[in-house]
Amino acid sequence: MTDAVLVTGGFGLVGSQTVKRLTADGRRVVVADLDTPANRNKAKALPVGADVRWADLTDAAAVQRLVSEVAPSVIVHLAAVIPPPLYRNPSLARKVNVDATVALVRAAEAQPTPPRFVQASSNAVYGSRNPHRVTDVVRAETPPRPFELYSNTKLEAEEFVRASSLEWVVLRLGGVLSPDFSALPLTADGIFIESALPTDGRIHTVDVRDVGIAFAAATTADVANEILLIAGDDSHKLLQKDVGAALAAALGLPGVLPEGRPGDPDDDDGWFLTDWMDTARAQEALGFQHHSWPSMLAEMTERMGWKRYLLRPVAPLARVFLSRRAAYRNAPGTYADLWGAIAAKLGDPCLSNEGTQG
Ligand SMILES: NC(=O)c1ccc[n+]([C@@H]2O[C@H](COP(=O)([O-])OP(=O)(O)OC[C@H]3O[C@@H](n4cnc5c(N)ncnc54)[C@H](O)[C@@H]3O)[C@@H](O)[C@H]2O)c1
Repeated sequence: MTDAVLVTGGFGLVGSQTVKRLTADGRRVVVADLDTPANRNKAKALPVGADVRWADLTDAAAVQRLVSEVAPSVIVHLAAVIPPPLYRNPSLARKVNVDATVALVRAAEAQPTPPRFVQASSNAVYGSRNPHRVTDVVRAETPPRPFELYSNTKLEAEEFVRASSLEWVVLRLGGVLSPDFSALPLTADGIFIESALPTDGRIHTVDVRDVGIAFAAATTADVANEILLIAGDDSHKLLQKDVGAALAAALGLPGVLPEGRPGDPDDDDGWFLTDWMDTARAQEALGFQHHSWPSMLAEMTERMGWKRYLLRPVAPLARVFLSRRAAYRNAPGTYADLWGAIAAKLGDPCLSNEGTQG
């Protein structure tokens, strides 16, 4: 075994900050990620102390080679296919989120000195959360209620990790945001889903830098075989409508997003896979909460700087553009139909619920 930390998906949103934090702490890091032109570019800016191994984790033989050659003391497993792309390619999502995790765990178990396995999971495992019926925050022990493809694949992967012979840690993340807009996946599908979310749904956000701190700390902290909930301090307990509006304003485009619709109080399955989380144990063990929601917004605004003034004249056009693409434009009804909107635009979110593990 070497002292290296193997970080899968190390060029992603969370991975980049995790690698940054680990190397800043003086750790040796090996990033495993897909060999794509975008990732090759990111590899040029890898911090000192980090190397890259190109690997497609859906190739079980490549996973075996990767783990036996790197012989890490810890694996931080972040690689995944997440929404929105997940809804357009359910079979790839299952291969990456579940099958690749299984291959990685098996390869880790076969090591002469098996590594600690830190698994990235999600508050999505708690499923659709109707704020009119559930009042408590989610906790590590709250029973999971996976609802669609993403929550199912994340829970299956997590359960496989927890049932393994490895020393494991599971971090269930809330809604990860970055003060750097260019790091966020602001795609047409992402903007569409944003317009479809019940406006009064609860979401617990977190600064990606704090998530990086949490993952780095979880590689050594006294948290073996614990599930920890990773989200920001209380200022990050938000409603869905607050998040989009505040981000648009920080960008210099206040009021640009279409109004959206509230969720149906009588429909327990019509809500998004987010809720407020009890982060007390995670914060006690990992000490990761350093960026409040107001400070993130202030930093976003500052980083945009003069570009905000260039964008401002574009706001009326952007408003028209976005309202034409809004999920409920000309649709009958008063309540959000999130899953119907996703099914119509991207693909059936509940298509592949059977699982590959049996
Ligand atoms: N972003 C969030 O809000 C959020 C919330 C909850 C949980 N999570 C979890 O955190 C983890 C990281 O999420 P993220 O936001 O950084 O995602 P991301 O999409 O930014 O990064 C995922 C990374 O995985 C890599 N990857 C995908 N398929 C691969 C494969 N076959 N082989 C090797 N690498 C592959 C991608 O190239 C990418 O670098 C994921 O497990 C995700 O489920 C994220």
